[in-house]
Amino acid sequence: MEQEKFYITTPIYYVNDKPHIGHAYTTILADILARFHREKGSDTFFLTGTDEHGQKVQTSAQERGIAPQEHCDEMVVHFQEAWDRLKINYDKFIRTTDDYHKKIVQQVLQELYDKGEIYADEYGGHYCVGCERFLTDKELEEGNGKCPQHDKEPEFIQEKNYFFKMSKYQDWLIEYINDHPDFIQPEHRKNEVLGFLRQDLNDLCISRPKERLAWGIELPFDSDYVTYVWFDALLNYVTGIGYKQDDKEFEKWWPADFHLIGKDIVTTHCVYWPTMLKAMDVPLPDTIFAHGWWLMNESKMSKSLNNIVSPLDLMDHYGVDPVRYYLVRDMVLGQDANFSEKLFIERYNAELANDFGNLANRITALINKYYDAIPEPGELHEKDAELKENAEKLPASVHSFIEKMDLNKATDKVMEFVRSVNKYMEVREPWKLIKKDKEATGTVLYCAAEALRISARLLHPIMPDKINILLESLPVNQQKDKFAWGGLAAGQKLGDFDALFPRIDVKKVEKKKEKESKPKPKKKKVDMIDIDDFAKVNLKIAQIKEAEPVEGADKLLKLQVDDGEGIRQLVAGIAKHYEIEDLIDQKIVIVANLEPAKIFGVKSEGMLLAASDQDGMALLTPLNDIEAGAEVS
Ligand code: ME8
Ligand code: MG
Repeated sequence: MEQEKFYITTPIYYVNDKPHIGHAYTTILADILARFHREKGSDTFFLTGTDEHGQKVQTSAQERGIAPQEHCDEMVVHFQEAWDRLKINYDKFIRTTDDYHKKIVQQVLQELYDKGEIYADEYGGHYCVGCERFLTDKELEEGNGKCPQHDKEPEFIQEKNYFFKMSKYQDWLIEYINDHPDFIQPEHRKNEVLGFLRQDLNDLCISRPKERLAWGIELPFDSDYVTYVWFDALLNYVTGIGYKQDDKEFEKWWPADFHLIGKDIVTTHCVYWPTMLKAMDVPLPDTIFAHGWWLMNESKMSKSLNNIVSPLDLMDHYGVDPVRYYLVRDMVLGQDANFSEKLFIERYNAELANDFGNLANRITALINKYYDAIPEPGELHEKDAELKENAEKLPASVHSFIEKMDLNKATDKVMEFVRSVNKYMEVREPWKLIKKDKEATGTVLYCAAEALRISARLLHPIMPDKINILLESLPVNQQKDKFAWGGLAAGQKLGDFDALFPRIDVKKVEKKKEKESKPKPKKKKVDMIDIDDFAKVNLKIAQIKEAEPVEGADKLLKLQVDDGEGIRQLVAGIAKHYEIEDLIDQKIVIVANLEPAKIFGVKSEGMLLAASDQDGMALLTPLNDIEAGAEVS
C-alpha cells in the first residue's frame, strides 16, 4: 500500500511583533496534527514561517529606525526561538524575504501578466492597513465607515495599480465551494465565505507604487511597483515545497491537506488564494480550516489593549507540555475561547497531575515494589479483558477525531480512558490482590501499564516532552504496532522517571507572580544639596546595648545605644526585621543631632540609618570594627 502523505501549513506571521499566545496556538495545533499523522505512519510535511514584506513591517522598522531587512532578521529569531522552545517540529521555516521565494513570486506574476490575468488600471478605494487590503462597500457599511475588524478608519487611496482578474472566477469559486463540502471548515466559515461571494467580486489590486511602499517584491514587468503583500504571502504555501523549483517534491506534497488559519484571514485564504491558484492552473488545497479566537477577558488580544499573553512566560512558569495541553484542550473546534490562567491551573491539577500523573506513578511504583521487571500477563479476568477491549478501540476513535480536527474531543477520549484505568485499579486492587495471587496481580499490573502506555502514545503529539520521558521508561516490543495491545515488553525492566506533572500550588504561583509584578520602587526625585548642607547632619557610629519592644506598637523597638559619650535612647521601626538578640552589641550609624521626638509616647534622641526595598530591610553597619562615637562623613 502506498504510504499516505500529509501536508499542513500555518499562516506565516507578520514580523511587526513578537509571537503571542494566538500565534502559538495555530502553530501548536499544526504541530500536534503533524505529529499525529507522522506517528500514524504518514509521510508528513509541516510548513510554517514569517511574512516579512508590506506596510506593517515597514512601519515597525521605521519606528525602530532600522532597515526593514535588519528588523526582519531580528524579529524572525523571536518566532524561531519560541517555536523551538514550544517543541514545534516543523519541516521547513519559510521567510518571504528568502531569495527562492522572491524569485518564484516574480515568475508567477510574469506568467499571469503574460496570460492577461493581470492588467493596469487607475482605482480609488478604502484601504485598511490592519487587514492589508481594500475593504468592500459592504464591510464599510458594516463598520459604519470603519474597518469592522480593526475599528479603524481606512485610508482612501487613488492611484494607478495592477489588478488580478479575480472577478471572472466568482461563479467558478461558488460552484467549487458548493461541490467540495470539506474545502472550507468549519461549516459556518464556509457559509460566511459564500455570503461574501453573494456580492459582486472585484478584481484584486496586487501592486503598490514604490513611492508609497518600498518594502516588497518588485513587479517583474514594472519596476516602479512592488507586489501586494498577500499575493506574495499566499504563494509561500507552494514556494515552500518546491513549486517551480523541484517538480517531484512539489507533486509529492501538493495539494495541501490543511491550511490552518485563524478566522481573521478567511477572505484572503478562501477567495484570493483559490482564484490565484485557478489562474495559475494549480489544484486547490483540500481544506482550509479556520479556528476561533483566543480572547482575554472576553476581548481580543491586541497590542493596544495590552492584554497579550506570552506563550513563553507561561511556559517558564508551568513547562511546555501543560501549555500545549491546555490550548488544545480548552478551545472547542472553530469557536472562540477565553484564556484564563486560573482555568489552566485547574485543568492541569485535575487532569495532568491527578488523573494522568498519579496513574503513571502508581502503576510504576507497584510494579517496582512487587516485581523486578514488567510482569508477564496470565489469563485475563473479566475486568482485565474489558480494559483491554477499550484500549484496543481507543486509537481508532482518537484518530477519527483528529481527522475531523476535533482535538478537544480527541483529548477528552484519552482522558476519559485514563480515568477508567484509575477506576480499574480501584476495582482490581493489586495492592490487596498481591497477598493472595501473585500471578493475577501481575496480569492486573501488566494490563494497567499497557493501558497507560497506549494512552501515553496517544498523548505524545500533544505533550512531546514529558510523555516522551514516560514512554522511554516503558520497554516495548519493536515488532508490534505501537498502538496495538501487547506492545509493552513483559520481562523487561521499567526505567526511572520523576513525577511527570507535580501539582501546581496556586498560592505559591500567586506569590511568585505578585513578587515579579510588584513595580520596582521608583527612583525618588532628589534635590541636590551642597557640602555645607550635608555638614549639618551629624552622623556617628553607635553600639546597641539594649533593645525592647514598644508596647502597643509592634513595629517599633526601643534601643539603648552607646554613642561614645554615653547612653542615649532611640526608637526605631525595625521590630519586624530583626530579633532582639541579634541586635545587641551591633554597631550602627545614627543621626546624632536630630531634635528629640516622642514616638508612641517614648522619647527618641536621634535616629538610626537603615535601607529598605520590597523584600525587607537592612541596618547600616561599619564594614570593619570601629569604636562607638566615630564620626561618619
Ligand atoms: O495575518 N487567537 O499574520 P498575523 C487565535 N501574515 N489565533 C490567533 C490570535 C488569537 N487571538 N491572534 C493571532 C497574518 N492568531 C498574515 C498571514 S498567511 C499567507 C499570511 C493567529 O501575524 C491566527 O492563526 O496577523 C491568525 O490567523 C494569525 O495568527 C495571524 O497572524
Ligand atoms: Mg493579524
